[in-house]
This record gives sequence, structure tokens and C-alpha cells, in this order.
Amino acid sequence: MAMSQAAFKAEQALGHGDNATTAQDITNPAFSKEWQHPTEKMKALAWMGKNKVEIVEVPKPAVIEPRDVIVKVTGSTVCGSDLHLLHGVVVELQKGDILGHEFCGVVEEVGSDVTKLQKGQRVVASFQIACGECYYCKQKLSSQCERTNSNTIENAMYGGRTAGMFGYSHFTGGFAGGQSEYTRVPYGDVNLLPLPDDVPDEKGLFLSDVLATSWHAVVDTGVKKGDTVAIWGAGPIGQMAADFSLINGASRVIMIDANWRLEYVKDRYPNIETIDFSKLGKGESVTSKLKEMCDGRGPNISIECAAGEYAKGWAHYFEMMLGLETDTSELVNEMITSTRNFGSCGITGVYVGFTNHFNIGSLMERGIRLIGNGQAPVHLYWESLLKMIQEGKIDPMKMVSHRVRLEDLDKVYYKFDAKEDGMQKVYVETRFSQPAAQGSPSLTTY
Ligand SMILES: NC(=O)c1ccc[n+]([C@@H]2O[C@H](COP(=O)([O-])OP(=O)(O)OC[C@H]3O[C@@H](n4cnc5c(N)ncnc54)[C@H](O)[C@@H]3O)[C@@H](O)[C@H]2O)c1
Ligand SMILES: [Zn+2]
Ligand SMILES: [Zn+2]
Repeated sequence: MAMSQAAFKAEQALGHGDNATTAQDITNPAFSKEWQHPTEKMKALAWMGKNKVEIVEVPKPAVIEPRDVIVKVTGSTVCGSDLHLLHGVVVELQKGDILGHEFCGVVEEVGSDVTKLQKGQRVVASFQIACGECYYCKQKLSSQCERTNSNTIENAMYGGRTAGMFGYSHFTGGFAGGQSEYTRVPYGDVNLLPLPDDVPDEKGLFLSDVLATSWHAVVDTGVKKGDTVAIWGAGPIGQMAADFSLINGASRVIMIDANWRLEYVKDRYPNIETIDFSKLGKGESVTSKLKEMCDGRGPNISIECAAGEYAKGWAHYFEMMLGLETDTSELVNEMITSTRNFGSCGITGVYVGFTNHFNIGSLMERGIRLIGNGQAPVHLYWESLLKMIQEGKIDPMKMVSHRVRLEDLDKVYYKFDAKEDGMQKVYVETRFSQPAAQGSPSLTTY
């Protein structure tokens, strides 16, 4: 049995905590009669095992708690975080779990206690499921809600839990995701933001995650006027973090990666500098290059938008394969040694557990502030980000390389993973989507 499924069995044996106020482990309406509409069916993308996803036909979800909202999905996408699920790096997946944590749509049905939303309203969901009332939710730190995830292994490993999340394994509560035609949203009036008419789905969708995450990475790590910012990972999160750094007054932004995405960046953001680490000369490293580019001292802010599963050298590759660590320390060490003394480093790319060979000496001696940015608290930012879209200050469509159909999403996962066909952020349409908004890439079918 794959590690991911074995961990879920262990969780079942241990039993959940008693903190959650919404039902756990409802990852596919097909798994229980109580969770499904009696007659209607829908298509969805399900995890079927390590490196395997499939489009399945399952019952449409039903309202099971009074504050549930059923959303008819009109836009969805794939995140770099979904690759950690595909690879089985994030644990506690079960065969058939419906994935997807970024989606928008139309309210289809509301539970009896939903007061703020009505059938027919256009909405976007936050990737995290928050109760709206606990200690963290009162401060809008919705990603750390205390009442939507009762996972015991996460609590033991981390000394605390995150909120529940859509389509993100039983480790974060076990909720069916939004890469589907319908999704059940617990605490619907907390976790859905109405979209105004002047914001098309093609832009509003990205309030679910990528916009809030990259904005949070920038403000939480402390980017301010005149800063020099280095960003590891030129995926959608890194690109938007670069854009937001400039909006927040950074005077220079340098992006580090090793593929065609750097060209994509150069094309769209002519002011951003790049380092392709695969093309460094003998004796050169990302750290030496950054020092050379930045007065011999390096950037004062570094942000990790890649992930702990991407080992660079054989040593960490084998340590991870043998289970001696879950994440490589190479990128974080590179950030620490590259950053100017007393500068700050933020980690937004996903890290799952433990790492070896961490350069604690450089961190301590040179006064580097290392910040875990956390799963981003979407509710803290999504209203102001929506305003920035309306005012034309940000254009989320800049990231979008493809428009695809939900029916093709399994193939899209593999292409996104392999970084084929210039694919990065996709807009996934369903049979309920409106015609493409102006500026959207035309539909690609597979
Ligand atoms: N904290 C949060 O709330 C949150 C939310 C969303 C996504 N994320 C995470 O942010 C990360 C980025 O997301 P994305 O959608 O842009 O992912 P992505 O997979 O599309 O992009 C990641 C990029 O990192 C690059 N990369 C890999 N190893 C590298 C290295 N050693 N140095 C520099 N670059 C390297 C890859 O080539 C790729 O272009 C992912 O780990 C994702 O899980 C975090
Ligand atoms: Zn995500
Ligand atoms: Zn809460």
C-alpha cells in the first residue's frame, strides 16, 4: 500500500480529535448515500494512487449540514500544491478522493442556516474551510481555523493543526474538492465570496488561493519600498509574488528557476531579473550569483515559492527516498546563505515534515529571520485583492497559459507536472461555464 494510504489507515486507527464542528472525511459523495443527491450525477477529478488521477462520474453532493452551500462550478484550476498530492508527498489520501482547492461558480443550493447567500449568486471559494468564529477566524487567520480539521497525525507532527482544506487529503480534514462540476462548501457564507459583475470568473477564480498566497508571502516576509527581493520558483505563485513585490515598492526582483518559465517571466515582466540555476558556470552557485548581482551582500528579502520535495542533489534525493527526511533543506539553505546579514527569508512553498543538514549556523550568526509564511489566510486579503482586480492594479490572467475542459483534467495534471506545452496556470471550464472572457486563452482540448 502506498505511504499516503497507509498514513490514512493509521489516522483511522488513532481516531480524530474532537475539535471539529463540521463532518470530516467527506471526500467523495459516492462513498455514502447520505452525502449524495438521489438522482443527479457529476464529473470530477479523483486521486487514484501515487502519480495517478482520473476523471470519474459520481453522484452530485447533497447538503448535509445546515450551513452547507452546494456550488455549481464554472471555473477551476490546478495548483503547484496539487502536484504534492499527485506525487503522494502530502499524506493521507484515499483512492477516489476528489481534488481541487481553487474554484468559483454559482450557488446551486443552500442549507437552512445560510443567511448571506442565495441561489444563483456568483461566488469564489477560499481554499481553506473556516468556521468564522474561533480564535483564529476572529482575526481572519482563516487558514488556521481550529474547528474544521480534527486530524490527529497533523496535530502530533506539528504541535497544532491547520484549517480543513478542499481537496487536500484527510490530513487537512478530508473534504471533496472543486475540480468537479459541483462542490459542497461547509460554512458556505464564511468560505464563499460573492463576485461582482465587473469581475469575470477568469479573474475572480484566483482569489481562492494564488493571489492571496503570493500577496501574503510578500507582506508576511516584509517586502517594503526599496527592497531587493529574490524569489525561488517561477511558477504562478512566484510570478505573482514578484508582481506584488514591485507593487509593494521593491526596487529589484530576481527570480530563480531552471526552465522555460523564466522566459515567460521575462516576456511579461521586463523589469524582473532572472537566474537559471541549470546554466551556472563551474564554481558558481545561486548564492555566489546573487551576491555578485547585489553589491556582494545579496538580496535583503528571499522568498521560497518552489517546495521541499524538489531535491537538487543526489544526497537529499536519496535521503528523501529512504525516508530519512521528508523535505530537502537545499533551497532554504540557499536562501539563508544568499540573503544579506539581518535580512528575511519566507517559506511559502509546501514543506511536509522534517529536513536534514539545515544551516542553522548561518541563520544564527548572520541574523537571518526565517519565516514560515504558513498556509495563506485567504480571508484576511480576498476583499482587498478583489478591489485591486476591479481597479486594474493586478491582472491575474497574466499567469494563465491554457484554457482546458474538466473532462481533460487528468491529462492536464500530467502535462502540468512535466511542464509540457508551456503549461503553467490553467483555467478549467465546465459545462456550466460562461463563454470565455476577453483576454482568456482559447480552449485547448486533449
Ligand atoms: N503556503 C500556501 O498557502 C501555498 C498556497 C499555494 C501554493 N503553495 C505552494 O507554493 C509553491 C509554488 O506553487 P506554484 O503553483 O507556483 O507551483 P509550480 O509547481 O507551478 O511552480 C514551482 C516552480 O518551482 C521551481 N523549482 C523547483 N525546484 C527549484 C529550485 N531548486 N530552485 C528554484 N526553483 C525551483 C519549478 O521548476 C517550478 O517552476 C508550491 O509548493 C505550492 O504547493 C503554497
Ligand atoms: Zn494551492
Ligand atoms: Zn475558525
